[in-house]
Amino acid sequence: MAPSAQGLVSMSPPESAAQRVEALRREIEHHNYRYYVLDQPVVSDAEYDALMAELKALETGHPELITPDSPTQRIGAPPSEAFAPIRHEVPMLSLDNVFSDTELLDFDRRVREHLGVDRAEYTAEPKLDGLAVSILYQHGRLTRAATRGDGTTGEDVTANVKTIRSIPLRLQGSAWPDRFELRGEIFMPIEGFKQLNAWALRHDQKVFANPRNAAAGSLRQLDPKVTARRPLDFFCYGWGLFPADRLPEAQAELLARLQDWGFPVCPELTVVEGAEECLDYHRSILAKRESLPYETDGVVYKVNRIAAQQRLGFTARAPRWAIAHKFPAHEATTEIQAIEVQVGRTGVLTPVAKLEPVQVGGVTVSSASLHNYEEVKRKDARVGDTVIVRRAGDVIPEVVTVIAEKRPAETSPIQPPGRCPICGAEVVTDPGETLIRCSGGLFCPAQLKAAIKHFASRRAMDIDGLGDKLIDQLLEKGLIEDVADLYDLTEEPVAQLERMGSKSARNLIQALEKSKQTTLPRFLYALGIREVGEVTAQTLAQHFRGLEPLIKADQETLEQIANIGPVVANHIVAFFRQPHNRQVIERLRDAGIEWETPEENHSRPLADKTFVLTGALASMTRDEAKTRIEALGGKTSGSVSKNTDYLIVGEDPGSKLDKARRLEIAVMNEEAFLAFLNQFVTP
Ligand code: IVH
Repeated sequence: MAPSAQGLVSMSPPESAAQRVEALRREIEHHNYRYYVLDQPVVSDAEYDALMAELKALETGHPELITPDSPTQRIGAPPSEAFAPIRHEVPMLSLDNVFSDTELLDFDRRVREHLGVDRAEYTAEPKLDGLAVSILYQHGRLTRAATRGDGTTGEDVTANVKTIRSIPLRLQGSAWPDRFELRGEIFMPIEGFKQLNAWALRHDQKVFANPRNAAAGSLRQLDPKVTARRPLDFFCYGWGLFPADRLPEAQAELLARLQDWGFPVCPELTVVEGAEECLDYHRSILAKRESLPYETDGVVYKVNRIAAQQRLGFTARAPRWAIAHKFPAHEATTEIQAIEVQVGRTGVLTPVAKLEPVQVGGVTVSSASLHNYEEVKRKDARVGDTVIVRRAGDVIPEVVTVIAEKRPAETSPIQPPGRCPICGAEVVTDPGETLIRCSGGLFCPAQLKAAIKHFASRRAMDIDGLGDKLIDQLLEKGLIEDVADLYDLTEEPVAQLERMGSKSARNLIQALEKSKQTTLPRFLYALGIREVGEVTAQTLAQHFRGLEPLIKADQETLEQIANIGPVVANHIVAFFRQPHNRQVIERLRDAGIEWETPEENHSRPLADKTFVLTGALASMTRDEAKTRIEALGGKTSGSVSKNTDYLIVGEDPGSKLDKARRLEIAVMNEEAFLAFLNQFVTP
């Protein structure tokens, strides 16, 4: 039985560290299950964080108590060099597909004939668009996880799978077999995918083409810390190795048991009878396909009775008792007519395929992203090629593959441009990056235009009505040359522009006027400094509490701020070093753009907590550590007493550590302390 939340928090002294650790683990696991599997949390995030922080602190003070299945160890593994191969004890098969109702009726007929029955019962569930994994549990603990690979041998992704919060590290209940393998799909929910891509875009990082690629890319990270930050989720749909005498009668029953042991099962899973109900189910999922929180490309039916499954058996690659009934494709075949280059706000050159217009899942598509030139090279996409394009949800259509057999004679490979096609400036590649950029900066009309668009955007200066077309015209007519010119605009010339008139012109001037009252983070974000997204802008505003000190800050000062690395620091310094940028800022201030000095951080998650520091920290001075604790509402004290909540231990700790141990006070080393502080930084 799942422990009740209340029962566990009550602390009955004297409780040893080991007991407390165990109680915390149970409680955290229970909250994980409530939150990630049932979607019914019973505690606030802050309460949950506090439990985790306490556990982390205890484990740091008592490393001998750390076990691989502790909730703190979800992200504990160090980065690896490669994924070790794992041979599946039971091969991971694939599924056969059908694409039409008739084909499905054929499948059902074959099943019935083979079993000699009039009517077959099936489980029906969406076919998730992610990647299959096999997870081994021994004595109720997750011990190994592997990708499907070629079906016989997969890759060891245990460390990464453990970071997925909806996958239990320890099972609930008790009636599970000592050793069994669970199979299911790891996927990225659409919302998480969008947020990940939005984040990637703001930070100039790789944007994923679709949730499936994002899930696969996230799971195949060598550093589990990266995987841990990705919004991955999981549904289980079957098993591999499983003691035959422990199997129930039906597939649905086994899934219900798995659910009781703490595994997430797709809420759309149901049992249907006969082919007609299969088809009804297919129609109902298709109808709500766009509103499901994850991508699905069809539904899967499985013969429900396990004895019947065993009688039907397998072909070489797939079970005879299951079938995927696919949805109409979100893919289509067409021809590349041209490959154009788009220049983004930070100068990144993106190749875009212009296509012979084609219908893809009900929408006409005439251009598709090729992402970057590495991708063009890898796919060897050329003008004249016949390609498969794919569109999913509201994601930009992409070129999936080139159909090599259909390539006409005399095509040539696409070369990345050596100069910006818009301004002619040289193209550069940052060390370690695959993206290529125009070095023209704001002298490049394309970058300038994108910069102005960014400046005006909703989350930046929020200038209502200043859209793409209008920016184009303002630049073309020479009414503006930079963002500061916006605030010199007057009604008459704007009213003369196409599709404007005096009312729209007046509205624009009013919107500009209104935008002058802003906040420092918005303003910093609006400047479009490379790698300074909204979060970094917040951090900078919070730290400097004004623009002047930020402009004057040097590389070293910036790097000392939490979450500001050398690269970002360098971009910031380079930005403010440019006389042009400083002039524009001055003119913006003269135009009347203003903000109130940011308030100090009001959230005080460490209120009433007392910290004592001992020994030298490597990443910050004693004073900086104090400042950070106090910024979060905590207190610091010079000596350990029974009122101390945490002792932070650096290099060469003094007698304070012994005293803290005696008093059973939570001890954190520097790494744990940094992780502890970082959880209060808004992601
Ligand atoms: S059952 C032997 N159920 O589809 C049974 N697979 O095309 C094999 N998939 O590798 C898997 N959703 O990655 C099953 N509800 C579902 C599924 C599902 C997605 C994937 C799975 C498998 C692939 C086969």
